[in-house]
Amino acid sequence: MSVATSLIEDQPARVAPTETLYQFNESPLLARQSQQESNARSYPRRIPLALKRAKGIHVEDVEGRTFIDCLAGAGTLALGHNHPVVIEAIQQVLADELPLHTLDLTTPVKDQFVQDLFGLLPPELAAEAKIQFCGPTGTDAVEAALKLVRTATGRSTVLSFQGGYHGMSQGALSLMGSLGPKKPLGALLSNGVQFMPYPYEYRCPFGLGGAQGIKANLNYLETLLNDPEAGVQLPAAVIVEVVQGEGGVIPADLDWLRGLRRITEKAGVALIVDEIQSGFARTGKMFAFEHAGIIPDVVVMSKAIGGSLPLAVVVYRDWLDTWLPGAHAGTFRGNQMAMAAGSAVMRYLVEHKVCEHAAAMGERLSEHLRILQRDFPQLGDIRGRGLMLGVELVDPAGALDALGHPPAFARLAPLVQRECLKRGLILELGGRHGAVVRFLPPLVITAAEIDRVAEIFGRALAAASTGL
Ligand SMILES: Cc1ncc(COP(=O)(O)O)c(C=O)c1O
Repeated sequence: MSVATSLIEDQPARVAPTETLYQFNESPLLARQSQQESNARSYPRRIPLALKRAKGIHVEDVEGRTFIDCLAGAGTLALGHNHPVVIEAIQQVLADELPLHTLDLTTPVKDQFVQDLFGLLPPELAAEAKIQFCGPTGTDAVEAALKLVRTATGRSTVLSFQGGYHGMSQGALSLMGSLGPKKPLGALLSNGVQFMPYPYEYRCPFGLGGAQGIKANLNYLETLLNDPEAGVQLPAAVIVEVVQGEGGVIPADLDWLRGLRRITEKAGVALIVDEIQSGFARTGKMFAFEHAGIIPDVVVMSKAIGGSLPLAVVVYRDWLDTWLPGAHAGTFRGNQMAMAAGSAVMRYLVEHKVCEHAAAMGERLSEHLRILQRDFPQLGDIRGRGLMLGVELVDPAGALDALGHPPAFARLAPLVQRECLKRGLILELGGRHGAVVRFLPPLVITAAEIDRVAEIFGRALAAASTGL
């Protein structure tokens, strides 16, 4: 038993009759937002808050209520809100009157950022790494990665995975498993994308589960890439999330990842690992692919790398660097404050052993959830790595699937989310049918705060489950 586990008292969830619950009446700001902002707005629908201040793991809204932020900018805020090292780095850029806009010209801040980032890569990758600064969204870095591998291999298609999420631009969207945002658009680049089953252990696409499911999955992939009658052209690349985030916090089996690397290498297909959400200590390693000990050809990074500010890059192996000057341009590729903040975050992660901390806190939260699971069979599957955790809610009364698991409980998930919010805890949903409750707290969350998150979640679950 780990140290973290032994610290947790084994108690069933209690519903405290005296707890104060926040009420959500529409404030003038929220009313104006729904009137004036696009119908495509997303988070405010489920998290109807107007925020005023933020520090560490907490945010405060305009009504003075505080919330624990376990969404953390969808995994962006590795050190939480307004961490002193981030603020200091930004203030230094301003005090030094550095150019705030530089296109992709170099500066001492940029140079330092590249050295810091390459210093975090596995030495084998760092030795031959090239970096492309992209427009400041994860999506743009995915677009760049697609161009990179297509140019270098002379092939046009890409393999992606069911449940995958790589962003919202049209190219990135064509790689997405979820059909929701794609359907209204009609044709995307879908002719150029072949979808593969992801090793989703709880809902094994082969109906096998465990090592057998992994073996079948790899065998299918190997056949697809090598069978002359597979009906699929050899792709330029395979793009994968080592832990699917939006797809429902699904960690890929490590043997499967090693198999994926072996098969793609043998076939001469580039392996793109999308670390936009899982990168920078979140899973308990600096990069999630390190759990499997593999070296990708391309790593796509954003979110935490800008220390709260917009920044996105692609790091790749030298052999792919055949694209032409200007092949991926963009005006906003030189955000100095983001680079300075990103460097500060990277140094802090190393100096304060945040990988180890995230792993221990993730284990602590998982253990809390496993204890809750004894009282709540609705907690079907608890999974993830480090502080990228999720719980798939299931309906215990529903018909069992081939693996003996009840169906997703889509109706319960938003109720749990709302009951958490009433108790001052911000959580997001994801996964198939939106039935996965996601925990993405800042990595600096303490053990006491983890305990508090679990306590609130337990109460919210009890309240949401009543009367269903
Ligand atoms: C794995 C992954 N890839 C790509 C993206 C897209 O990044 P952005 O929203 O910055 O465009 C996301 C965003 O959540 C992501 O989680």
